[in-house]
Amino acid sequence: MTDQIAAGPLTTETGAPVADNQQSQSAGPGGPVLLQDQHLIEKLARFNRERIPERVVHARGAGAYGTFRVTADVTRWTRARFLSEIGKETEVFLRFSTVAGNLGAADAVRDPRGFAVKFYTEDGNYDLVGNNTPVFFIRDAIKFPDFIHTQKRDPYTGSQEADNVWDFWGLSPESTHQVTWLFGDRGIPASYRHMDGFGSHTFQWSNEAGEVFWVKYHFKTDQGIRNLTQDEADALAGRDPDSHQRDLREAIERGEYPTWTVQVQIMPAAEAAAYRFNPFDLTKVWPHADYPPVTIGTLELNRNPRNVFAEVEQATFSPHHFVPGIGPSPDKMLQGRLFAYGDAHRHRVGINADQLPVNRPHAAGARTHGRDGLAYDGRHGGAKNYEPNSFGGPAQTGRPPWEPVQVAGATGDHPTPAHAEDDDFVQAGNLYRLMSEEERERLVANLAGFLAKVSREEIAERAIANFRRADEDYGKRLEAAVQALRG
Ligand code: HEM
Repeated sequence: MTDQIAAGPLTTETGAPVADNQQSQSAGPGGPVLLQDQHLIEKLARFNRERIPERVVHARGAGAYGTFRVTADVTRWTRARFLSEIGKETEVFLRFSTVAGNLGAADAVRDPRGFAVKFYTEDGNYDLVGNNTPVFFIRDAIKFPDFIHTQKRDPYTGSQEADNVWDFWGLSPESTHQVTWLFGDRGIPASYRHMDGFGSHTFQWSNEAGEVFWVKYHFKTDQGIRNLTQDEADALAGRDPDSHQRDLREAIERGEYPTWTVQVQIMPAAEAAAYRFNPFDLTKVWPHADYPPVTIGTLELNRNPRNVFAEVEQATFSPHHFVPGIGPSPDKMLQGRLFAYGDAHRHRVGINADQLPVNRPHAAGARTHGRDGLAYDGRHGGAKNYEPNSFGGPAQTGRPPWEPVQVAGATGDHPTPAHAEDDDFVQAGNLYRLMSEEERERLVANLAGFLAKVSREEIAERAIANFRRADEDYGKRLEAAVQALRG
């Protein structure tokens, strides 16, 4: 990258020439520094303000632009215009991330990876803010801040603590499936290019006729899945904390553009009520035998951002950024996320975050009467700032972007309804039984290595009991492995 600021005199922020950028002004050659040195004061003050708050989760990440291309006719399921024709292309920006680490943390760690895609469609931006795992640790947004507190730094020690992590997982048995996934072979991807992505939640698609389908998105890597063992990752994290970020940038610089095959599982709305698992429970997958994935497109990354701060750090993805034909499901985690992200962006990047170059709609206009606030660029000129008005300008469409959902019953703090085969352990057990003997050995060793660090016996026992309920053999082996490590 050879970008350069135009040649000519160095200037202050407001364009006045700077005489000396090496020596500050002082009262005599050996005297104190002068307040009249505008350039010095401006330079130090701006430096103090270079950082914005890092993301409260997923702080550490890398992004790239690319293209999504439709490869199948999906118009019978959704009226989303960017999906309306085979061959149609939409610009995308994708940010990969880890979850728990702070901004400078290492990439090669055992942690879910964020997989956040922004589609710049003609109906505005559509964000799919997913992970590289099809499920999650919890199923209700009200538990998210507690969960994340246990993954991040302890208020007293300032470090991640095995006690807190395992205490939460043990007391939240619905996490057993995701924890089994995370400590298995796919828990440490070798690079961002060699892993799948998932929308994870169930979303609503609706067609022109208003028929509703529930869908789950899968992005299957065309580079093949590659993972690191715990030992490989520990060595790499020490040697090259930026390993995954560098790999992505360099692959794109070499012209080796990573691609993913995009698939959806599609459930007609009428089948949701009687499905064997609650289709809106984020701790569960829909087995492919029940709803086979349908290939709908390809996604390619082919352009690096020019400025990491402007385009990656200030990127704002929100699960609430839908386009007509796509909407939310009643998944309680997703519902909580619909609030959380816009709020985070207003705090972290400011009220005009969505109009920054990486975030603004690229293939549509933002025709809104919302305006002003910190760092407003005056884009509305002198236009009227209210609606309806007698002077023209944009008006509401009258057509809801997604279809209504029928609800029944009283308001209250309801648990997620359980369907016929739902419990917290069935799919964790199925995943364990699907693994080869070698995979099980590695899974148990990875779990035991971390669990053995727990200081309180009852925390370890409670956690092991959850794995035993998923599969007797799984729990028994884990207990033995933890005991062996504790000596
Ligand atoms: C109710 C539960 C959740 C809450 C409240 C929540 C909240 C947040 C917040 C506040 C951020 C930082 C946003 C920013 O500052 O720009 C974030 C980032 C992120 N979250 Fe969540 N999250 C939740 C669950 C999930 C789940 C289930 C997934 C994936 C399936 C996920 C994927 C991501 C990703 C990929 C990012 C990074 C986006 C980026 O690259 O900018 N989160 N989350």
